[in-house]
Amino acid sequence: MNAAAPSARTAAIVPAAGRGERLGPGAPKALRTLAGQPMLLHAVRALAAARSIDLVVVAAPEDGVDEARSILAGLDTEAEIVIVSGGETRQDSVARALLALPADVDVVLVHDAARPLVPPDVVDRVSAAVRGGHDAVIPTLGVVDTIKEVDDGIVIGTLDRSRVHAVQTPQGFARAVLQRAHASSEGSDATDDAGLVERMGVVVHTVAGDEEAFKITRPLDLVLAEAILVRRRASGGVV
Ligand code: CTP
Ligand code: MG
Repeated sequence: MNAAAPSARTAAIVPAAGRGERLGPGAPKALRTLAGQPMLLHAVRALAAARSIDLVVVAAPEDGVDEARSILAGLDTEAEIVIVSGGETRQDSVARALLALPADVDVVLVHDAARPLVPPDVVDRVSAAVRGGHDAVIPTLGVVDTIKEVDDGIVIGTLDRSRVHAVQTPQGFARAVLQRAHASSEGSDATDDAGLVERMGVVVHTVAGDEEAFKITRPLDLVLAEAILVRRRASGGVV
């Protein structure tokens, strides 16, 4: 259990410094557009729209800090926005953003810019579970495919699908726990922050994720994201 004080602030860190190599040639992924607006703008807007988020710290591509600043300058929000330069790996980018957190932040969520359509409800669900006393919280979804363990082309076994979960972001942490995890695992290049925290033996809790919090990785993911935005616009939602 952590000692999160209700008066302290909740921050969202947004690793956005990746190149988007699997998406194909082009600008860094977070700066590419979806329905005419950069992915980064969609992601930060979703976080800032969550009631629980007071501050957003973006780790921008090293050569895209000014662009990120101008993209986010026009966002109509009361949340404070800070932009830092990201690093070579996702873990480096998160570590750099952690260094920029003000002292009064005690709960930190980490959210991929590559998940620009996350519903604000998911963000608030994660924040609430951390504020409620859990040191580490991740949103997950069940998997629909049968999952097999394969080695060198040979099936080793079939996993019990009811026990396998796909993990999304934002992942939420008591600030001290996340800082300790990063300090003790420099250079490990984990693909998520909960992985670092698990290695310290901290219990990681799950809450329900959401299909719309999917990660944009390959070109087909852009087609799905555009379709979701068309549907949101048609139903009068903010896009
Ligand atoms: N990220 C980051 N700094 C890095 C690498 C990744 O901040 N050095 C961020 C990405 O911007 C993204 C998130 O981590 O929001 C998840 O990474 P991923 O989906 O792998 O994005 P990319 O690394 O950009 O994509 P790819 O691996 O295809 O190049
Ligand atoms: Mg990557």
